[in-house]
Order: sequence, then C-alpha cells, then structure tokens
Amino acid sequence: MTLSPEAYLWFKTLHIVGVVVWFAGLFYLVRLFIYHVEAAELDPPIKEAFEEQYMLMERRLVNIITTPGMVLAVSMAVGLLITQPSWLYQSWMQAKLVFVAGLLVYHAFCYRLMGQLARGECRWSGRQLRALNELPTLILVIVVMLVVFKNQFPTGAATWLMVGLVLFMAASIQFYARWRRLQQQSPEKNSSSDE
Ligand code: HEM
Repeated sequence: MTLSPEAYLWFKTLHIVGVVVWFAGLFYLVRLFIYHVEAAELDPPIKEAFEEQYMLMERRLVNIITTPGMVLAVSMAVGLLITQPSWLYQSWMQAKLVFVAGLLVYHAFCYRLMGQLARGECRWSGRQLRALNELPTLILVIVVMLVVFKNQFPTGAATWLMVGLVLFMAASIQFYARWRRLQQQSPEKNSSSDE
C-alpha cells in the first residue's frame, strides 16, 4: 500500500501536536512533584489535604495528558518512518532516537516517582526535583535542533549560547527557589506579617 504525500504531512502535524502535549505534561508533572514534596513541611491536617490533592492532580495529568501525548507523538513518528523509511539510515535520526529513548526512560522514571510519592517513599528533595526538571528541556533543545539542522548539526558559538541559556535557566530556578525559601524563613518578614 502506498500512502499519499499528504499522509506524511498529517503524520508530521499530529507528531508535533503529540510532542507539545507530551512535554507540557512532563514539565508540569515534575512541578507538581516539587509542590508535593514541599507540602511535607506543612502542619498535619493541611499537609494531608495538600498531599491528597497533589496525588489526584498527578494521576490525572499522567493519564489524561502526559502519556496520551507520548503515545500520539511516538505512534505518529512510526507513521512518518513507515511513509519514509530512508530517514532511519541518516545519522541525525539515529542520534534523535537515542535522545528519544532517554526521554522514554525519563517518562517511566517520573511514573515510578509518582508511585513513590503516593506511598510516601520518595527520597528526592524539592531542590533535586527542580534540577531533574531541566533534563527534558535539554533533550527538547537537542532533538529540535537535530530535526531542524539534520546532518548539518551546528557546533559553533550559537550552539554554545543555547547550552549556556539552558544552564542559566536551571541556575536561576535554583537561586529563585532558594531566595524564596530564605524570605519565608526570615524573622523580620514573619514579624512584619504579624503586624
Ligand atoms: C519516537 C521517536 C521519534 C521519531 C521516530 C521521530 C521522527 C520524526 C520524523 C521522521 C520527522 C519528519 C522529519 C522531516 O520531515 O523533516 C519528525 C519531525 C519532527 N519531530 Fe520527531 N520523532 C520522534 C520523536 C520526537 C520528539 C521526542 C520530539 C521533540 C523533542 C520531536 C520533534 C520533532 C519536530 C519538532 C519535528 C518537525 C521538524 C520539521 O518539520 O522540520 N520528535 N520526527
């Protein structure tokens, strides 16, 4: 059976939609894990209520957004490869598949973390989870560069600027979280809010 050239464009359209949904779900999921872990610092009755709520939000996010996004992105990618199998022999595609495999492992790892959080067995701190959340950003940038530049992957100043930007973003998130934590612990702030 030969597919029409339009089929390829449909696969690509839905592939990109799937990728956007998948990443939105992955980014928000780990953000919820951070709130979930930090809820442990609250006083007992509120703590339980928050943890219950985060658990529900995480489960719904994974089942309704993150995993369906992944299934759509991957199944449409299979459609693209069936329509044009020659991509598989190109080195940019082979490199892309290695990063996508990493992303699938990350997805499974998040699923595992969700189970640990639900059972109260998660050992990750909010700080570590914030750092973990930078991993899909890095994969996203590299994979998008691979599909755009293909075998002419750039290694010049612009690429290093991009890497620098991702690292700067990761560091800013850590510093901002630390600054907020210090603000909350500061005695002057607490006494002025009591006034
Ligand atoms: C299951 C693994 C995947 C396979 C086999 C795959 C395969 C493909 C193929 C064959 C194309 C069409 C390339 C073209 O027509 O130029 C494509 C496009 C694209 N893919 Fe993937 N993909 C996968 C996962 C991903 C992931 C995880 C991302 C995002 C990080 C992604 C982002 C994109 C984008 C943005 C395009 C559009 C590129 C363009 O039209 O120039 N893909 N993919």
